[in-house]
Amino acid sequence: MVAIAFYSITGQTKRFMEKTQLKAHQISDANPKYDMGQKYILIVPAYQDFMMDSVVDFLTFKDNKKNIIGIIGCGNRNFNDLFAQTAKKIAATLNIPILYLLEFSGTDEDVKNVRKIVHDLSKGESTKEVQKPKELRVTLAS
Ligand SMILES: Cc1cc2nc3c(=O)[nH]c(=O)nc-3n(C[C@H](O)[C@H](O)[C@H](O)COP(=O)(O)O)c2cc1C
Repeated sequence: MVAIAFYSITGQTKRFMEKTQLKAHQISDANPKYDMGQKYILIVPAYQDFMMDSVVDFLTFKDNKKNIIGIIGCGNRNFNDLFAQTAKKIAATLNIPILYLLEFSGTDEDVKNVRKIVHDLSKGESTKEVQKPKELRVTLAS
């Protein structure tokens, strides 16, 4: 199974991870420098940059920046254009795909979709059947 790292400040992302029952490393503020040592995906909530120092410390440790293969963003759509801003920024900076976006601790549908994405990635496949959140769909301007 592909490895997973996640970060959580108020516990929503942690709750989501528990619902998926997927094994994952939680990035801690006390000791963020943890070497994943293998390919992995990152799951992060969205906050202003200054609140994400632990994630930056984690990403810049050893080969963690090289080993990341995709990101899942959590947030709150009331933030409009800033929805899932942290995942979007990390994806753009590290040139990795956003695999999925969800709000708070996710719906049953989000749990199912993320489990499928992780299982398919573990088999070396990318998931096509999962309906992507609207922010990730390509729309053709008319
Ligand atoms: C101070 C603060 C700032 C936030 N900023 C954003 C934001 O810019 N974009 C967004 O989508 N959600 C934002 N959120 C919502 C959180 O990302 C969302 O509630 C998330 O599920 C929290 O995850 P966590 O409990 O694992 O930390 C913010 C929440 C707080 C409390």
